[in-house]
Amino acid sequence: MDLQVVGDYREMSELGAKIVSETIQEKKNAVLGLATGSTPEGMYARLVEKYRRGDLDFKSVVTFNLDEYVGLAPDHPQSYHYYMKRNLFDHVNLDPVNISIPTSSSDETLEEACRQFDKKIEHAGGIDLQVLGIGVNGHIGFNEPAPYLKTATHLVELAEETIEANSRFFQSKEEVPRKAVTMGLGSMMAADKILLLANGKNKAPAVRDSFSGLVSTETPASLLQLHRKVTIVIDREAASLL
Ligand code: PGA
Repeated sequence: MDLQVVGDYREMSELGAKIVSETIQEKKNAVLGLATGSTPEGMYARLVEKYRRGDLDFKSVVTFNLDEYVGLAPDHPQSYHYYMKRNLFDHVNLDPVNISIPTSSSDETLEEACRQFDKKIEHAGGIDLQVLGIGVNGHIGFNEPAPYLKTATHLVELAEETIEANSRFFQSKEEVPRKAVTMGLGSMMAADKILLLANGKNKAPAVRDSFSGLVSTETPASLLQLHRKVTIVIDREAASLL
């Protein structure tokens, strides 16, 4: 595990963007696993800057997003489909056919859509670099703390802490969807490289519990300690309890 503690959010975003850029520069058809949330916003902004400067080409890059709320239409401002368009997809030359985001539909096609999503990752040759944030409860994607965790893409009930944490993006807590679809631990752990970003004091307990040398499904991010190529880029505040 390569742990990089940086000064602040800006430095975290810069180093995150550097690691993603290097992956694309080394392999122009790189397969990226992408995260949403406030953590990677700065990193996406820097990737867009690099693209605009001509330092980065997304033409052959393939992307798979980690998760999506169930029940929010793709054009809902808080959906992750919308987030990705706003933060990255609308600003770079990614080919829309190379973009995959888990379904937001709650109908009977959901299970099949999850299976197809996993198959698509497999057909793409697996993920070269998986970008992750971390929840205040140690979740990765929307894999919430539990006695067991699923390996495949699946439907989840969001944990109370997640609903609480994400309510800042909605008018009220009641508006936060209760369910989501998330990539399972299987595709993430099969990624060639993993990059986890975290910033802020509120992430310090989750960071401590995840990277202390113990592994538990009650802190899903702790399983990343078993991966061979994981880079953790966190700011001083998030590292304060290590
Ligand atoms: P955040 O979310 O980046 O908005 O803090 C991270 C997560 O819940 O995984």
